[in-house]
Amino acid sequence: MAKMWAGRTAGQTDRIADDFNSSIAVDSKMYKQDITGSMAHAAMLGAQNIILQSEADTLIDGLQGILEDIESGKLAIDMSCEDIHMFVEQELTARLGDIGKKLHTARSRNDQVALDLRMYLREEAGEMVELIEQLLQVLTEQAETHKAVILPGYTHLQRAQPITFGHHLMAYAMMLLRDVDRLKDAIARMNISPIGCCALAGTTYDTDRVFEANKLGFDGIALNSLDGVSDRDFCVELMSGIAILMMHLSRFSEELILWSSWEFHFVELSDAYTTGSSIMPQKKNPDMAELVRGKTGRVYGDLMALLTTLKGLPLAYNKDMQEDKESVFDAVETAKMCLKVFIPMIDTMKVCADNMKKAAQTGFINATDLADYLVKKGLPFRSAYKISGQIVAQCIASGQVLETLPLETYRQYSELFDEDLYHEIDLTTCVEKRISAGGTSVNSVEKQIAFVKGKLEK
Ligand code: ARG
Repeated sequence: MAKMWAGRTAGQTDRIADDFNSSIAVDSKMYKQDITGSMAHAAMLGAQNIILQSEADTLIDGLQGILEDIESGKLAIDMSCEDIHMFVEQELTARLGDIGKKLHTARSRNDQVALDLRMYLREEAGEMVELIEQLLQVLTEQAETHKAVILPGYTHLQRAQPITFGHHLMAYAMMLLRDVDRLKDAIARMNISPIGCCALAGTTYDTDRVFEANKLGFDGIALNSLDGVSDRDFCVELMSGIAILMMHLSRFSEELILWSSWEFHFVELSDAYTTGSSIMPQKKNPDMAELVRGKTGRVYGDLMALLTTLKGLPLAYNKDMQEDKESVFDAVETAKMCLKVFIPMIDTMKVCADNMKKAAQTGFINATDLADYLVKKGLPFRSAYKISGQIVAQCIASGQVLETLPLETYRQYSELFDEDLYHEIDLTTCVEKRISAGGTSVNSVEKQIAFVKGKLEK
């Protein structure tokens, strides 16, 4: 079939060129946005007397019919079309004849595709925000339940100081809150209408771009038509936000994987989110968490792919930009899938408080508190630090822990040691005394939980 744009050429492209050129397999996802965008365009053309009001009404009815037929399954999208825009216009013209051919007055596929993509992504990004908020919800519930559970906090993956599990979980909540902010920010900048920029230079018709933008729920219009059709910042911004979100989910996954190993055994993931091995009967593998970690690489790739595609493009539209959708759709869909599995995985996660406590009892994670004890009795911190280090070394050599070392031994290192030291190095005391704002004490964790809950309620 000759192309709709046949004229300058016969519109008879090679089959392979057709396949290469076509984007409908990817952009058919935007059929709803394309049709509602076209309905607003027809309404504007009618209101501005660029076409007759009766023609505008016919176009809108025709478009509505196409939308309903696609949704009900009565109309299949013709995958031999170049893209979704061509398909809808072709179908409309088949249904309405010459009136259908009036729809594309005062616009171009260049502003049309930019419009569709913004409309599609603002919805997707909004759904992603909701998913992150659901994750925040289950995360805060787990933190609330386990706010007093003690485990070792790590630096360099070496046991460092005792912390509460609630505190650890709330660290991820803070990251996710920032992710929500970033996505909302991207949505706000995305919600500017490019329609009416036309091919690149605007148009000679007396259009009303603000009318169209309002009808489609945009907050404003692109103020420069060259920019309006060339701008894909909104995709890059969204993908950057998603890449950071995935980085957070990946770090969390890494911890879940470590924690569910026999070596740690801090948590048990529900059977629903783990798999077995085809050969080793004892295995329970944290595949979902591993996949989230793995898919993070793929999402970074999507972001890099689009940045690289855009970096050398002259103004205004270039066909290279058709590549945008594959990357941004993949990033959005991958992240949404990861969130959908992450939410119930966290919700059903069992916490092995005893194992966490046991790990906290070895590894001398109260050594800082031992030093602080001496400091409070008047010793300069550096000297207290040195003594505590020597005591740890002795414990290691004699197979003891700080809690069981007799007072006489302590006194060999400093006269300042007294019976009360045992209370000071008790893990619960260590945690409860971390009262500084944002610290690990139960009271501080409760404040963090209240803060996140307040944000979620808004
Ligand atoms: N399928 C194209 C895309 O996704 C639509 C815009 C085509 N514009 C053009 N002048 N060829 O970018």
